[in-house]
Amino acid sequence: MNADIATSVTDTPLLKVTGLGKSFGGVKAVDGIDFELKAGELLALIGPNGAGKSTTFNMVNGQLKADQGSILFHGHELVGMKPRAIWRLGVGRTFQIAETFASLTVAENVQMAMLSHDGKLFSMWRRAAEHKRDEALALLDQVGMKAQADRPCSELAYGDVKRVELAIAMANAPKLLLMDEPTAGMAPKERNSLMALTKDLVTGRGLAVLFTEHSMDVVFAYADRMIVLARGRLIAQGKPLEIRDHPKVQEVYFGSGKTFEKIAAKAAAVSAALGAPA
Ligand SMILES: Nc1ncnc2c1ncn2[C@@H]1O[C@H](COP(=O)(O)OP(=O)(O)OP(=O)(O)O)[C@@H](O)[C@H]1O
Ligand SMILES: [Mg+2]
Repeated sequence: MNADIATSVTDTPLLKVTGLGKSFGGVKAVDGIDFELKAGELLALIGPNGAGKSTTFNMVNGQLKADQGSILFHGHELVGMKPRAIWRLGVGRTFQIAETFASLTVAENVQMAMLSHDGKLFSMWRRAAEHKRDEALALLDQVGMKAQADRPCSELAYGDVKRVELAIAMANAPKLLLMDEPTAGMAPKERNSLMALTKDLVTGRGLAVLFTEHSMDVVFAYADRMIVLARGRLIAQGKPLEIRDHPKVQEVYFGSGKTFEKIAAKAAAVSAALGAPA
């Protein structure tokens, strides 16, 4: 890692969430949660179905307005801001279902995202496309898709579409990237390669990532820290090993310690094989 980048990873939180809450009718989907995220950190948001993960995620990106609490990002209060304004501040996101324009090439998809970030009109597309091509190719190189830059997205394998999607999210040069179940629908090998790539962006650029994930081997192999929700409450947070040994997590989330230890052991093996930190 480059020394300048290493020193830019400070202890000051990039994202500070305090007393965040949201109800739907009588249901408290998120019930007053607190957590922080620093630059250069990969934070997993886990919990059983209906725990409030997506609701939390959507309050941070502005799709949903919080009923209570605060979301401070880089000194800005995000509660009450529109999704686009939040995106402009440097909060990028990827979607559970990959969203690219199938008729455009790989490079054009990334160029389009760059234009959008620069606030250019799409009518200027032809000229501006040339202007941004080098930058788009540089990003595609980082995600291992440069060689396929001129292929239409419709021809790509699913794992490659997810890589392009990551490049599109990075076109906005975000400080914080929100990833909604990034590896959903992927084969185990593709999953690991996408997460290894994400981890590189986190360490190489000091990017902060908040991701929701159901696959425990992905979480344990790659997350620096985890927060665990159950019925809208934050029941635990800490490093993967602390979470593995947390009695509340074993009880509420996994039912029995035995099952959980099996998952954690498998994840540790994956992590060791990849040389990723446990
Ligand atoms: N738009 C909505 N209208 C009404 N209730 C909702 C809405 N969105 C979520 N809920 C409820 O809020 C609670 C939390 O849902 P949420 O989608 O945040 O859970 P989750 O942790 O993302 O679950 P999953 O793992 O299944 O994706 C659930 O009880 C859900 O039914
Ligand atoms: Mg969800």
